[in-house]
Amino acid sequence: ELQERESLIITNDFARAYYQEQLTQSEEGKSIGLSYFKQRGFRKETLETFGLGYAPMQRDGLLKAATAAGYKEEQLEKLGLVRNGRDFFFDRVMFTIHNVAGKPIAFAGRILKKNVKAPKYINSPETEVYHKSDVLYGMYQARQTVRKLDLVYMVEGYTDVISLHQNGIKNVVATSGTSLTSGQAQLVKRFTENVTLLYDGDKAGIKAALRGVDVLLTNDLNVRVVVLPDGHDPDSYLQEVGTTAFETHLQTTAQDFLFFKADLLLEEAKDDVGQRTEAIRDIGSTLALVTDPLKRAGYLQQFSARLGLEESLLVNLVNKAIGDRR
Ligand code: CTP
Ligand code: MN
Ligand code: MN
Ligand code: MN
Ligand code: MN
Repeated sequence: ELQERESLIITNDFARAYYQEQLTQSEEGKSIGLSYFKQRGFRKETLETFGLGYAPMQRDGLLKAATAAGYKEEQLEKLGLVRNGRDFFFDRVMFTIHNVAGKPIAFAGRILKKNVKAPKYINSPETEVYHKSDVLYGMYQARQTVRKLDLVYMVEGYTDVISLHQNGIKNVVATSGTSLTSGQAQLVKRFTENVTLLYDGDKAGIKAALRGVDVLLTNDLNVRVVVLPDGHDPDSYLQEVGTTAFETHLQTTAQDFLFFKADLLLEEAKDDVGQRTEAIRDIGSTLALVTDPLKRAGYLQQFSARLGLEESLLVNLVNKAIGDRR
């Protein structure tokens, strides 16, 4: 079992080296892949830190290279690298997904051509060494800084992680566009209890933030939110305003998630009593996820002040929500 996992990781490591070599040594890789990364502002060192590579147009380049080096096609298939005698990743720039120990457990490939129907990113399937729901992209590269600063930024995309890291914000990981899981919350907890969500400044990004939070609160993490200007993701915003202004934005606009959610819901409700009641109930049920009684009491106090409601009313609401959950 352990041996099988090790051998899968060794095979993945061959693929990682192959994609990296294609990027930096082959004419095709240099003219297409390397120039793409350069145009995005990624430096050489960054390409190495994140194991970025290039999968050539050839439909069996990896398969041929790997089998020539003695790797079994069956292993490549198990890893989702090869299907029916052909490479799964081709004509894409490649992102290596590492576990916290820095081992390559999966890959993502980004399309370069515009206006084609294929998905922008394709990702390795679930395998014996890649359980998506337990992985946060970039945690290996982020972990020391996360510990030191006792804070992690969560972003949506691979390139957000890479771009922020390269610009000195190294305590950043990506959910890779999916909703957060308990496994990911537990992973974060090994390094810090403080999470700041930094999602895209569009409706989808805000919705993703709202969705992800329950699982973080349930796992006793402290959650803050930074909203980016509409149309931006962390990478594009950083590129536009520069690191200093970006960091200022983080520091000045980060707010506690529960207050963020409350403001959002109450703003939507306006003066409509029904909607306002609904919003307060919703806030109460989120508050019920906070298991630390002291922390919860702190929130209750602040909310009752903000909402102009008797604290006991809110306490009852939350207790009822806790009861309903049991
Ligand atoms: N994603 C994915 N498959 C897709 C689209 C998105 O897995 N077809 C995931 C990727 O992890 C991606 C993240 O969702 O990084 C966010 O998507 P998006 O914002 O569209 O991509 P960016 O990371 O911003 O990539 P880029 O800047 O290269 O466009
Ligand atoms: Mn603690
Ligand atoms: Mn988006
Ligand atoms: Mn982007
Ligand atoms: Mn994005």
